[in-house]
Amino acid sequence: MRVLGVESSCDDTAAAVLDGRRVLSSIVASQDDVHRRFGGIVPELASRSHIRNVRSVIERALVTAGLELDQIDAVAATNGPGLVGSLLVGLSAAKAIAFARDLPFVAVNHIEGHLLSALLEEEVEFPYLALVVSGGHTSLYFAEKLRSYRTLGATRDDAAGEAYDKVAKMLGLGFPGGPVLDKLARDGDPKAIRFPRARLKNPLRSVESGSFEFSFSGLKTAVWQHLRDRPGELDPAAIADIAASFQEAVVDMLLDTTGAALQSTQAPALVIAGGVSANSRLRQRAAELSAARGVRLHIPPMRYCTDNAAMIALAGSFRLAAGERDSLTTNAYADLEL
Ligand code: KG4
Ligand code: ZN
Repeated sequence: MRVLGVESSCDDTAAAVLDGRRVLSSIVASQDDVHRRFGGIVPELASRSHIRNVRSVIERALVTAGLELDQIDAVAATNGPGLVGSLLVGLSAAKAIAFARDLPFVAVNHIEGHLLSALLEEEVEFPYLALVVSGGHTSLYFAEKLRSYRTLGATRDDAAGEAYDKVAKMLGLGFPGGPVLDKLARDGDPKAIRFPRARLKNPLRSVESGSFEFSFSGLKTAVWQHLRDRPGELDPAAIADIAASFQEAVVDMLLDTTGAALQSTQAPALVIAGGVSANSRLRQRAAELSAARGVRLHIPPMRYCTDNAAMIALAGSFRLAAGERDSLTTNAYADLEL
């Protein structure tokens, strides 16, 4: 089955064509240039950019796949969670195609897309623990089997990627902040500054209570205070030390809770997905953690870590193969539950 997937939940307009599990094309139009000068995503500008891009992105996905629209068997699109104005653009485009061509349609939860993204390139066996860590999400899930996911916990405040973006903004490093801080951190000393780690050891923490939580806003404030106490120009070495020390705190917090969840669930594998899984230090330390625990580690290649439509088409394909269909009246929801 050839499935066209469309994704527009945040600031990337994406379309992809899959034939079964084989990715024939995956096109992503980034809006970083639109949002860079604001140091974060401006929702209204995001929706307008999606409107400008969606048609050409879908066309490019078809051309790259070497297919005409009448060779597509079904359409899948993200309907949440995300920015509702952004979601509506891709969802409406996908529903319009399904309506015009009388094709089956399924709506896909963006998080399910991230959870399954590791399956695009590798055989990944269920069950597994999944850490989804991006600009909008920092959550742990237990993926028991297809369509059966348990939320183990999430961030109480900022997402890890959001903390990266805000710290980069404080340092005047532009947007998005993750890649540039990751790069700068390589020249810094992770022990130079002891930033606080929020360790939320909820006494009720168990697989059932879903309280494997994270918090990044205190760390963000600590970086702000550190900078406030050192007014004036920071030299490159001082910036590298801040980047490395901040990053070490983020990775410590992410993997502390992930380690506890591995212990509780006894999951034999760990999947890390979302934009922050591109982080070099997180990858290195996750590999160490997995080796120490004897669990398999799967991190999708970069192009499937960040937002993309291939993961949406894949999640859609599984649902379509199971005979599921959604109505063309399906709406977009900012806080759609998994
Ligand atoms: O998944 P994604 O493309 O979009 C959503 O937020 O849904 O993730 C983008 C986030 C941004 O916050 C960006 O700063 C972060 O991922 N990011 C990174 C790295 N590359 C991207 N964070 C840390 N290190 C990186 N190398
Ligand atoms: Zn995402």
